[in-house]
Amino acid sequence: MSEDAKMTAHGMQKGLTSYGDPAFSLFLRKAFIKAMGFSDEALSRPIIGITNTASDFNPCHGNLPLLIEAVKRGVMLSGGLPMAFPTISIHEAFSHPTSMFLRNLMAMDTEEMIRAQPMDAVVLIGGCDKTIPAQLMAAASVDLPAIVLPTGPMLTGRYRGEELGACTDCRRLWAEFRAGALSEQEVEQVNSRLAPTFGTCMVMGTASTVACMVEAIGMALPGAGTMPATYADRLRLAEATGATAVVLAKAGGPKPSEIMTPAAFRNALVVLQAIGGSTNALIHFTAVAGRLGIPIDLEAFDRLGREVPVLVDLKPSGQHYMQDFHWAGGIPRLLQELREFLDVSCRTVAGETLEEVATRAEQVLGQQVIRTISDPIARGGGLAVLRGNLAPGGALLKRSAASPSLLYHEGRAVVFPSVEAMVRGVDDESLDVTPEDILVMQGGGPKGAPGMPEAGYIPIPKKLAHRGVKDMVRISDARMSGTAFGTIVLHVTPEAAVGGPLALVRTGDRIRLDTETRRLDVLLDEAELARRRAEWQPPPPPARGGYAWLFHHHVLQADAGCDFDFCRPQPS
Ligand code: FES
Repeated sequence: MSEDAKMTAHGMQKGLTSYGDPAFSLFLRKAFIKAMGFSDEALSRPIIGITNTASDFNPCHGNLPLLIEAVKRGVMLSGGLPMAFPTISIHEAFSHPTSMFLRNLMAMDTEEMIRAQPMDAVVLIGGCDKTIPAQLMAAASVDLPAIVLPTGPMLTGRYRGEELGACTDCRRLWAEFRAGALSEQEVEQVNSRLAPTFGTCMVMGTASTVACMVEAIGMALPGAGTMPATYADRLRLAEATGATAVVLAKAGGPKPSEIMTPAAFRNALVVLQAIGGSTNALIHFTAVAGRLGIPIDLEAFDRLGREVPVLVDLKPSGQHYMQDFHWAGGIPRLLQELREFLDVSCRTVAGETLEEVATRAEQVLGQQVIRTISDPIARGGGLAVLRGNLAPGGALLKRSAASPSLLYHEGRAVVFPSVEAMVRGVDDESLDVTPEDILVMQGGGPKGAPGMPEAGYIPIPKKLAHRGVKDMVRISDARMSGTAFGTIVLHVTPEAAVGGPLALVRTGDRIRLDTETRRLDVLLDEAELARRRAEWQPPPPPARGGYAWLFHHHVLQADAGCDFDFCRPQPS
């Protein structure tokens, strides 16, 4: 088959296995697939691939079987042939050393399986933090018509009358346990209430943030970002997603590159600021944009942060949960409120403009979750980009989750040279630390840990927690869970493991955080920094080969989305 014919082939004829005789390849393929009982009529339909990311290790994807069944129904009702296929599944709590280490592996797996198997469009079903970013990275690289179906957020639980949810309340109650305010028995009881249904964490953590941004960027149907995982509405949404995939397959587009334009990325970043979303989402969307050759300008993102108000009152920055956001009107209602900051001419996978989506938004009288532009939660946005001699490539601070009194702070550095050293030392009774100090952790970046774990949420040293200290300035090249809170500077770039200035900081140095001027500086002169730089030794490369070797040698820094260098568009 000629290259032209390969490009225009559809359904079963796409991407034939190479046996040197295309007609035989098709004959063989059909012979095997008929073993599953398919008729020739079924095999002549447009094929819709469906990623099956179900796993016994992934409760966030616990509804996958039901979702796939509903997507298949939508595909069949619209004249397509649904074909589900497995890919890697990643759950946050079941990924050693960290899920971020595996995101690019999932992106490569998903990309190659979409490329390898014959499909005219693909439904990407993901949910837990790294899964949808990996799938979007794959979709951007393949550029086959694609639509995302998030698994949806969990419902909340209750403990002694209080509404609880993963994982902001996991952290808050664990901090109370560490401080001695909860007994061992109480914390065990709470453990069974924090994640009461399947679905993704129901606060505005990374999974919810990404799902909301996917809806805003136009890669999913309205409601997909917020509808609870367990509701029948999500199954109807899945059916509609399957039907939309068939429309995409028959029309041959729009393709991901036609939906995820620079303007659409900007819209998604506006929404990230307005929802007080997870810092991780910036890394993920930078990676997706990088696959399409679209640079994410950190300074422009910071300007959005100054202009766009935080409007959504959800934990960890606020008080409510995703189900409340959904019933308050969800993303369509938020888009309506944010109109002046958005390019509402951008189109979604369903062919609508954002203007049309926003106009249809449900109006819920008296709702308290989506605030108006004139009555925001906070006037400045959720995320601030810091620069300075400690972070020449940038660092991120989630302002909406920080203590206002610490947004300007100068203090003495207490340095942990690695994640392990922090874990060993932070609760040591002999640790010389005061509430005014700044906790610094090195070696938590993309290469350093490896995989940039969510260890940036350095716990308050136990002896200070027992005295009632709830927040301190903490700085690292690691990430933090989107469900966490505190005055925590993350993603310091370049990371310590590649010799970034963070590697040069020592206990006793003075550090200044000035959020208003967006500065993060260690108060050392250039001569001293140069002297320490000359003494610095890089850490040894990983002891094992395989994926760990590939990751170490090819992962990019946070400002490039931590993608692999070879996965970005290559110059021809
Ligand atoms: Fe899966 Fe939170 S652990 S979304």
